[in-house]
Amino acid sequence: MNEQTKGLFITFEGGEGAGKTSQISRLKDHLISLGHEVLVTREPGGTPGAEIMRHVLLSGAAENFGAEMEAILFAAARNDHVEHVIRPALLDGKIVLCDRFIDSTRVYQGVSGKVEMAFLKKLEDVVCEDAWPDITLLLDLDPEEGMKRAASRRSTDEAPDRFEKEALKEQETRRNGFLSIAEEEQGRFKVIDASGDVDAVAARIWTEVATTLKERGLAAG
Ligand code: TMP
Repeated sequence: MNEQTKGLFITFEGGEGAGKTSQISRLKDHLISLGHEVLVTREPGGTPGAEIMRHVLLSGAAENFGAEMEAILFAAARNDHVEHVIRPALLDGKIVLCDRFIDSTRVYQGVSGKVEMAFLKKLEDVVCEDAWPDITLLLDLDPEEGMKRAASRRSTDEAPDRFEKEALKEQETRRNGFLSIAEEEQGRFKVIDASGDVDAVAARIWTEVATTLKERGLAAG
């Protein structure tokens, strides 16, 4: 977010089973205990319209349109989300924790779906305007471990979503995709080792977030 705003926009990225959801919940509780106002949200989704798009995208109903059209649909959902939820919260001074954002499109539709990065960046410019993540926490995990975690998390009657179904090799390609974006944008990205104990991962995340809060003059406890 730009200089005039008081909020902080933190996005979480990573492959399947990296533990984003539980880490977001822990970070939220910790920030609230320090007196911050926090909004937790996710992509695709975060508004009623974008949640409908989530269903369409994750069910695979849009798969036949091809990766470029899927990228447009993710961008349309994101536009609604930024306009109605993320930007207003940031303007209100809140800390926004968002489960996936632009980098998931870059990796899933760009790297895996082979959609040109220049095209994706145009979509980002249209959608994000002034609402760019201040920090992106990349929860980095060995894909084999991540896929095991994702499978154990699913209930027996729940099928893997359209993007979870892909093979281990694809997950490895995505991991490398995230890591290379992190390398290109080191100012925004913090790569977090997401292996091992949840408390240890939460502590690694807190070290990064506390540093940013202090840099911005916001209380970090
Ligand atoms: P998740 O909520 O379990 O992370 O699932 C969201 C799925 O959608 C995940 O498989 C990644 C995929 N996805 C994309 O392909 N592109 C995107 O832009 C986003 C936000 C998610």
